[in-house]
Order: sequence, then structure tokens, then C-alpha cells
Amino acid sequence: MSTVQEKVQPFAAPKGIPEYYPPESAGFTHVRDTLSAAAERAGYGYVELPVFEETGLYARGVGESTDVVSKEMYTFADRGERSVTLRPEGTAGVVRSVIEHGMDRAGLPVKLRYAGPFFRYERPQAGRYRQLQQVGIEAIGADDPALDAEVVAVADEGFKALGLTGYRLELTSLGDASCRPAYRSLLQDFLAGLDLDAATRARAAINPLRVLDDKRPEVRALMEDAPLLLDHLSPASAEHHAAVLQHLDDLGVAYTINPRMVRGLDYYTKTTFEFVHDGLGAQSGIGGGGRYDGLMATLGGQPLSGVGFGIGVDRTLLACGVEGVQPWSTARVEVFGVPLGDAARRRLVVIAGALRKAGVRVDLAYGGRGVKGAMKAADRSGARYALVLGERDLEAGTVGVKDLASGEQRDTALDAVVPELVAALAS
Ligand code: HAM
Repeated sequence: MSTVQEKVQPFAAPKGIPEYYPPESAGFTHVRDTLSAAAERAGYGYVELPVFEETGLYARGVGESTDVVSKEMYTFADRGERSVTLRPEGTAGVVRSVIEHGMDRAGLPVKLRYAGPFFRYERPQAGRYRQLQQVGIEAIGADDPALDAEVVAVADEGFKALGLTGYRLELTSLGDASCRPAYRSLLQDFLAGLDLDAATRARAAINPLRVLDDKRPEVRALMEDAPLLLDHLSPASAEHHAAVLQHLDDLGVAYTINPRMVRGLDYYTKTTFEFVHDGLGAQSGIGGGGRYDGLMATLGGQPLSGVGFGIGVDRTLLACGVEGVQPWSTARVEVFGVPLGDAARRRLVVIAGALRKAGVRVDLAYGGRGVKGAMKAADRSGARYALVLGERDLEAGTVGVKDLASGEQRDTALDAVVPELVAALAS
């Protein structure tokens, strides 16, 4: 029997999935938590929902003609032969949960926030991933334009809190059930008179609105005089739209109207918006959302309206990189212990425990490396102070406290080092 083991080929993560690990992961968690905190300040309670659901939820909720449902879903049969799908977006799941748990029987609107991974089988490229991260909010049960404005403002505050400035907000209204069908046939009539290629014609048959944001110059030219939904809104939708804009003006949230905006999900009505960052190239949408007044009923609930957004955490982090804003620290710890010898190690383990109990982030050099290696580890950890403890210090009852930025080192009494460091770090 041979004892020689064949070298194992290491595994790689699935294609198109960004991984975040230290020190860069500090940026990821900071972006996610800052966006989430803006939602928390506006009273959105946290929901933790399944990352997979019954496939029918998305077919029904998001729409079978959308790319997301028809081409991009991770759908598989589980061991009980049920068709399940990794969630491609969050709104349908939130609405399912609101209905299932009767959250809409208490006070309205129900305001919820969520954060986590979503899955779309897209062609991976910079800023477009198969596992993407969102922070989202949904407010269900109030058809109030002030609520649309709040949702938009929460996203805007989140971006501002990160220090981002190079983005803009595009907004439109997609109308409601009383004006959309008439507009749709108007647009279809217009498209029938154009010289379009077969593929575009097929797209137009499924969803004529999608031809409106076709990026090809020749199609854009043809669509110049296309009728726009904004000019054909029902009185109720037009009034709602005007009120949303008034609230945004009152709040000082800047926007541009984009009457040709098309979103990739079918449930939108009335207010629809996108945050676009021009530094990101083709994948410039850092967040989007809108109102979905039919979704609750479509999924078997009461006929209640809803409005929300999903912000892409991956792309927002990329936007921070492009703008050179980094409001987070990549330091793992604040204090790093460097023991020189076994007795010193025992003492530093106890000091580290006491500091952690006092809320200070502490790490130690492990594995019996020499002083040089340990000091390098201290620098790498991002700590402000190193605690250097040798046998002679122990005998003298002192410990060296080194300021890693200035290089200055001074001795402190071992008994006093915990409160002293706590005070120094607080200042
Ligand atoms: P969505 O526009 O499909 O909307 O996605 C929201 C955001 O997620 C996008 O603006 C983008 O930043 C990010 N995102 C989407 N796909 C990818 C991808 N493949 N790679 C990286 N980032 C991506 C929704 O999902 C709706 N559920 C939002 C919503 C909530 N509407 C109402 N309530």
C-alpha cells in the first residue's frame, strides 16, 4: 500500500460570485450596514426570509415574461420532487411572508427591511454577478405618495451616509390598471408601423414597453416619437405622481424624470425609480424600486398596495471605490499582544480577556513566532497599540505599550494597563 497521497486539486468558487474577505470585507459590511441603518431609522423592521422559495411564487409574482424568471432563475427539484428556486429578488418573498403571517392584519403600512444574497444566472461581468447582495425595504398597505417619497429618500440617505455623490436618481410613473392597457395598445400600434427586425418585434409582442429603452442608435431614432406613458396617465396616477415629486422637492432629493425607464420586473405600477452611478460602466444601476399595487392580490392576499427598493450592495461598494470614499476602517483590532515567552503569554491571554470584556477588540500573536514576526503581525492587524510583554517586564510589573502609528513606546503598570488602554482608545 502506498502512503504517498496524490495532490488534491483545490476547489474554486462557482463562476460569477464575488467573495469578500479581510481586509476588503470591512467595506462590504460597512456598506450593507449603513444602507440598512438608514432603513432602520425610518422604522423598517428586519425580516430574515428563506433564500429559496416555491418556484411558482416568482413565476406569478415577478412575471413569466421577464428575463429574470424566464432565463435567469436557479430552479431545481428538491429531494421531495418539489420545484424550488433560489430567490432572484426580495419583493415576492416579503409579500408572501406578509400574507402567510397575517402581518397586514396589524397596523398598516407594514414596513420591512432585509439584506442578503440573491441569485440570477446572468452572464458575469464587472458589477454583474450570479450571487448578488441587496439591502431592500418594502412598505405594504398605504397608497400614500409620501410613502413613495420616503422609500426614495431612505435610499438616497443611505448613499449620502456613505459619502457618495456621483449618482443620480431617475424616476417615472408606470401608471395603473386603468391607463396601462390603453397605453400598451397605443404603443403597439406605433410599433406596428415601424421597420423593426424580427427579434425586436418578438420582444415587443411580449412586452412593448421594453423597446422604449433599447440602447441601439437605430432603434432609438425610430422610437423618438413613440407615445410615452407619462403623457397618458389616469387622473389618479397623474395626481399621485405629482404628489411624489412635490414631496421629493420638499425633502431636497434631486431627481430627473426618465419617461423611458423600463424595469426588469413585471409588478411595478405608478412610481418607479432607479439610482444610477455613472462611474460604473454598463452595470450602472446601484439601486431601484417602485410601487407594486397589484402584487399582494396576485399572490393571494388582500388587495393592498406596496412600495419598496432593492439596493445592490456589490455595486454600491464598487461605486465607493470609483469615488475613492472609504468611510470604514480595515483594522481588525485595536490592540495586539506580543508575548515574549510562556509566562508572558499566560499574562497577556488574561489581559486580552479583560480588554475584550471592556469592549476593546484585541488579538494576540500565536504560534510562538519571534518578536519580529509578532510585530509584523501587529502592524498587519491595523491595531493602534501593541502590548509588548517580556519576562523582565513581568518581574518589574510593567508592560510596554507601543503606539504603532508613531512608534513611541512607554512602560505602564500591568495592573493599570486595561483601564488606561480603554481610556486612550475612547479619546
Ligand atoms: P432590481 O432592479 O432587479 O430590483 O435589483 C435591485 C438592484 O440589485 C439593482 O439596482 C442592482 O444594483 C442590483 N443587482 C441586480 N442584479 C444584479 C447582478 N446580477 N449583479 C449585481 N447587482 C445586481 C429588485 O430586485 C426589486 N426587488 C427591487 C424592489 C423592491 N422593488 C420594489 N421593492
